[in-house]
Amino acid sequence: MNHFHVRRGALWCEAVPLTRIADEVGSPTYVYSQATLTRHLSVVQAAFAATPTLVCYSVKANSNLAVLRLFARAGSGFDIVSGGELGRVQAVSGAADKVVFSGVGKRADELEAALRAGILMFNVESAEELTLLDAVGRKLGRRAPFALRVNPDVDAKTHRYISTGLKTSKFGVPFEEAVALYAKSRRMKGVEARGVDCHIGSQLTDTRPVRQALGRVAGLYAGLTAQGFKLTHLDVGGGLGVTYTTENPPSVDVYARTVIEATRHTGATLVLEPGRVLVANAGVLLTRVLFNKETPARHFVIVDAGMNDLMRPALYEAHHDIVAVKPRRGPKKTVDVVGPVCESTDVLGHGRPLAPLKAGDLLAIRSAGAYGMTMASTYNSRQRPAEVLVDGDTFRVVRKRDELTALWQGETP
Ligand code: LLP
Repeated sequence: MNHFHVRRGALWCEAVPLTRIADEVGSPTYVYSQATLTRHLSVVQAAFAATPTLVCYSVKANSNLAVLRLFARAGSGFDIVSGGELGRVQAVSGAADKVVFSGVGKRADELEAALRAGILMFNVESAEELTLLDAVGRKLGRRAPFALRVNPDVDAKTHRYISTGLKTSKFGVPFEEAVALYAKSRRMKGVEARGVDCHIGSQLTDTRPVRQALGRVAGLYAGLTAQGFKLTHLDVGGGLGVTYTTENPPSVDVYARTVIEATRHTGATLVLEPGRVLVANAGVLLTRVLFNKETPARHFVIVDAGMNDLMRPALYEAHHDIVAVKPRRGPKKTVDVVGPVCESTDVLGHGRPLAPLKAGDLLAIRSAGAYGMTMASTYNSRQRPAEVLVDGDTFRVVRKRDELTALWQGETP
């Protein structure tokens, strides 16, 4: 459910017409609904309410400070993957005690900053990382709390680019090696085992791989506890899918039941790392039509947003619904919606049936709140979009469009 709806023949976000935002802020612009963001978080929190659970929003999905502050105030913790994401979280919330630090390639300075900040847990992904974390812990005279991210070797049945739980993937510690590594950690003075972690992939639409992976991971957790490890947290990662077009992911309640049933016997506090499910359908990318272009083979609609602004279609052949903000009357035509970037993959939508469009018309690219702005680049020296947060009948710019001179800031001719 989201708060984008048609009113008087035009698309609105909450009580604000998108045309007003485009007129005042320009385009391309990401627009997020505060009501949708808040609702999505509360649905996840409610689904797990009966079990001790910490929701750690996965910052990489949408790291705008306004989004982070909204979630922090609603009680969320954060899943981070870099010193940069730690900095963002600290910029909006003084406390880091609800932060977990994931990622295969953490640097010593990033580990040190996070340990100083007092985060809840490091999700360690290799034997060498554990050795480094131990050294950092000893240097600071502290024991860094950690979980091993184990690779449960299950097929998440999602796009191969966003599947992470297979044996061949770079993520996590091989399941068979985990016990030995936990045992080794007992001899380390700079670390302390606090939990077990896994994450099998993103945009999951099937609960079976989740059940299978968590069965293995919960078994490991119970086995370690039996060996005397004082574990408290079982991190089940993120990954719950959303509906972009025709996908039919499990509801949050069904997902919660699957997770809780698979892990209940451990008695652990659950950590969740949801990203996409909280933010994807809370955002659209607003873009204006620049030109229509008929060729013998195709009808192109060229818009002012490109693959640099929303990379998902070019990178994963991802589908995002595209709708006219104020559709004109007339027969629909099948068009390719393309951006201005000098790449053949700069196609935001292939073969879309759209009513007639003219230069200046506004389009909304739906479900763009997750992995949209966070993956945007300045390729072709294009200024990254502005971001707007709508709250009821008001909106504010929560990130200005890049200044032109920001494109070469720090460069020396
Ligand atoms: N935890 C870990 C360790 C992760 O690697 C990820 C996502 C998440 C949590 C959050 O997953 P989510 O709930 O959002 O599925 N750029 C791709 C998605 C990459 C996901 C990377 N890891 C896309 O646009 O589809």
